[in-house]
Amino acid sequence: YPTDKIRNFSIIAHVDHGKSTIADRLLELTGTIKRGHGVAQYLDKLQVERERGITVKAQTATMFYDYNKKESNTNYLLNLIDTPGHVDFSYEVSRSLAACQGALLVVDAAQGVQAQTVANFYLAFESNLTIIPVINKIDQPTADPDRVKEQLKSMFDLDPSDVLLTSAKTGQGLEHVLPAVIERIPPPPGKRDSNLRMFLLDSYYDEYKGVICHVAIVDGCLRKGEKISSVATGQSYEVLDVGIMHPELRSTGYLLTGQVGYVVSGMRSTKEARVGDTLFHTRTTVEPLPGFKPAKHMVFSGLYPADGSDFEALSHAIERLTCNDASVSVARESSTALGLGFRCGFLGLLHMDVFHQRLEQEHGTHIISTVPTVPYIFEYSDGSKVEVQNPGAFTSDPKIRVVASWEPTVLATIIIPSEYVGVVINLCSERRGEQLEYSFIDSQRAFMKYRLPLREIVVDFYNELKSITSGYASFDYEDSEYVASDVVKLDILLNGQPVDAMATIVHKLKAQRVGRELVDKLKKFIDRQMFEITIQAAIGSKVIARETISAMRKNVLAKCYGGDVTRKKKLLEKQKEGKKRMKRVGSVDIPQEAFHAILKVS
Ligand code: GTP
Repeated sequence: YPTDKIRNFSIIAHVDHGKSTIADRLLELTGTIKRGHGVAQYLDKLQVERERGITVKAQTATMFYDYNKKESNTNYLLNLIDTPGHVDFSYEVSRSLAACQGALLVVDAAQGVQAQTVANFYLAFESNLTIIPVINKIDQPTADPDRVKEQLKSMFDLDPSDVLLTSAKTGQGLEHVLPAVIERIPPPPGKRDSNLRMFLLDSYYDEYKGVICHVAIVDGCLRKGEKISSVATGQSYEVLDVGIMHPELRSTGYLLTGQVGYVVSGMRSTKEARVGDTLFHTRTTVEPLPGFKPAKHMVFSGLYPADGSDFEALSHAIERLTCNDASVSVARESSTALGLGFRCGFLGLLHMDVFHQRLEQEHGTHIISTVPTVPYIFEYSDGSKVEVQNPGAFTSDPKIRVVASWEPTVLATIIIPSEYVGVVINLCSERRGEQLEYSFIDSQRAFMKYRLPLREIVVDFYNELKSITSGYASFDYEDSEYVASDVVKLDILLNGQPVDAMATIVHKLKAQRVGRELVDKLKKFIDRQMFEITIQAAIGSKVIARETISAMRKNVLAKCYGGDVTRKKKLLEKQKEGKKRMKRVGSVDIPQEAFHAILKVS
């Protein structure tokens, strides 16, 4: 395949607009996967992804396509680079786009342009990609493709006559997609006779083969047996295997300019495979490709084994998971309440949820996670300035005062039907948002831009936005600057003892309300015990909310009348299971649900 017979493209879309279904249809159309064979949505591999209907890890597949069967030499090699749809993963979107020259921008014919359509459009636009607009789901009774065409024109200046109409469900219109890819998207620009420059797109760890890197050959060619080096680490490797994803790994022995494929080179850990790195032939010199900034971790939480003895198992599970998700940062920490654990940094809240779920599902580890926090910056009276990723690390030295504090903000895009404008403005101002833009994308839909503190959206913002707009709001955000903010550390005390794992950092104006809510929630989740328990929320030495749980009178088995042995056994089993997930803090047993419940207080 000469370079002019290669096309590299991605599909970008708002969540649920049909990106994965279209990808599957294209793979079927080109015979890459069999129709109706195997699992639907081939590119969404992981179990959690399928459960939640989201794409987390970008996957890539090569297709062969005969563009015009009547003529000879019309065989094309098409690389479809899958991108994640969710806001937390815009970092993965931009790195996938770096290997493409074009993108299909898929929009649901009924829902129209949504927040992630806007965000993804701009990512592709800024990377100078050719954009092919596709209005999908035209089979739906509520489809209104003409309205969506107008939105695409007014929002992105996309010509209505360039728009493709498809139904990935019935197959209608899909035959026009690949011809449009070939006709409109330029071939990759690299030079075959230059020195090898290869862009590292992604990597993962395979039990049998070791580290597998997804790469795009920008210039030159790569062959099995050759020696390659990394610009980032200076390490050299021998190419043990090289090939394409079709969609399973298929060894070809070489990759040519413009191709996307995989390389196995005896790297021992994915930590050696830095995404955005440039690989080149050892003993040549090349100009490194524009790299990528490392992922910025925006949400941190502590992870502890629910059963104290399981620390080694948790450690092992985290190690294995991060082997395949280098975007999670991990550092050991210890908590007086929870013992030994880890502080993990995530790209966003969904990223965190997915990680927790995978720990439990794939590794069978029971975990307790602490209240998620964002990275604050504090300036102390001793002149030091520190980033605090853990409320527990907030200075406890009474001689040192906080002189100034800053918190991270995001720029949020919200698209809603116009009747919900009022409630959304209320929600945003309650979350300390500042409105930057407010306009209409058509007669029925409003578009708003807000600056919001990250802290305020990390905790349950999206769910609340969805619920007050009956599910119609769409939302996306990008990281923005730090702004000065008056924040304080809020402690939770059980029987007078601070529980470090429950401490949180909040804005001064919200401290009272959050303190009250935390105390109320904890009261609901902590069972009565043999003695009275006081629950307090405090800032420094000042208590701002308080509740008590009176001592227990009955015991659990008292309910179990007569001699019903199986019932009694069941109850005891249940209690045992419950025990596993308890944490004793001082003398108080705290169920895991209590830790989970307070994650949602904002
Ligand atoms: P993420 O992976 O979460 O980004 O979503 P996605 O954009 O990949 O959407 P996906 O392909 O998972 O489709 C979402 C839902 O829409 C699924 O239930 C599909 O079956 C359905 N769907 C996709 N295309 C069509 C279509 O053309 N018509 C109809 N009626 N439904 C469709």
